[in-house]
Amino acid sequence: MKNVLIIGATGQIGSELTMKLRREYPEGSIVAGYIRGAEPKGILLESGPSEEADVCNGQQIAEIVKKYHIDAIYNLAALLSATAEKFPLKAWDIQMNGLINILEVARENGCQVFTPSSIGSFGPSTPHDDTPQDTIQRPTSMYGVTKVATELLSDYYFTKYGVDTRAVRFPGLISYTTLPGGGTTDYAVEIYYSAIKGEEFVCPIGKGTYMDMMYMPDALKAATDIMEADPSRLIHRNAFNVASMSFDPEGVLASIRKYIPDAKMRYEVDPVRQAIADSWPNKMDDSCARAEWDWKPSYDLDEMTKDMIKHLREKLL
Ligand code: SER
Repeated sequence: MKNVLIIGATGQIGSELTMKLRREYPEGSIVAGYIRGAEPKGILLESGPSEEADVCNGQQIAEIVKKYHIDAIYNLAALLSATAEKFPLKAWDIQMNGLINILEVARENGCQVFTPSSIGSFGPSTPHDDTPQDTIQRPTSMYGVTKVATELLSDYYFTKYGVDTRAVRFPGLISYTTLPGGGTTDYAVEIYYSAIKGEEFVCPIGKGTYMDMMYMPDALKAATDIMEADPSRLIHRNAFNVASMSFDPEGVLASIRKYIPDAKMRYEVDPVRQAIADSWPNKMDDSCARAEWDWKPSYDLDEMTKDMIKHLREKLL
């Protein structure tokens, strides 16, 4: 990767991935793509080029790719799972019509493409424990439907046209820089903010609901390592299970209480989010990612909690 376009560069993943790529590829153009109303600010704006890049506007994307001689596209535009249930047609438009625009631009201009999949690509009939790499994927959320289709379409463009598509299935991502918006796993970020502010956390996900989660530095490492992986070793492409920790609300609360003993939580379960969470894996098996491109996470729950609290104290207090 030399010149990279990040679509959704001001979002939860994009804001940190753009900065990481600018640090790691200082000689390249790392273009922060944004939509109107979500323009980059501060260091994200000042540290490199930015362009309006609406995934639904293929012409606009093609012009940016040509202008900067883009070799790799991170297509991070998406409505997360709970929001996608409210606006299913909009989710389809961004996730599917947007994807085909990106894949077409990549086919015409020889770009590599990363479009993340998710634990949301699984459904109630998927084995929930040690969910295998290759298994039943019949999700019941619109988010999940679009993620399975993303995997299939990305593999199709690789097989049919040789477009170098690769991706991972992200767990719920936890970070302190940019908040996620409208996801089922957002609670695992919000609970840290409440604990730091000394507020009782109202948890929308029920006790005993386990989901895969990951700290952002590991997620960014997965996103860049898979793009740099030796293609001759890749048996899979779209998309690899990657895992680092799995917990339920009690588990993350217990971890926070090691540092903030009076952290409080009560439950007010949101039926939409709960139904989605119940349909997702408890814990994925990521042995294919480990075998095919040496995936290895660095953070477990307590290491993440320690780092989150340190950074959120600096940010919020
Ligand atoms: N974090 C996402 C969501 O909750 C799942 O990929 O929607």
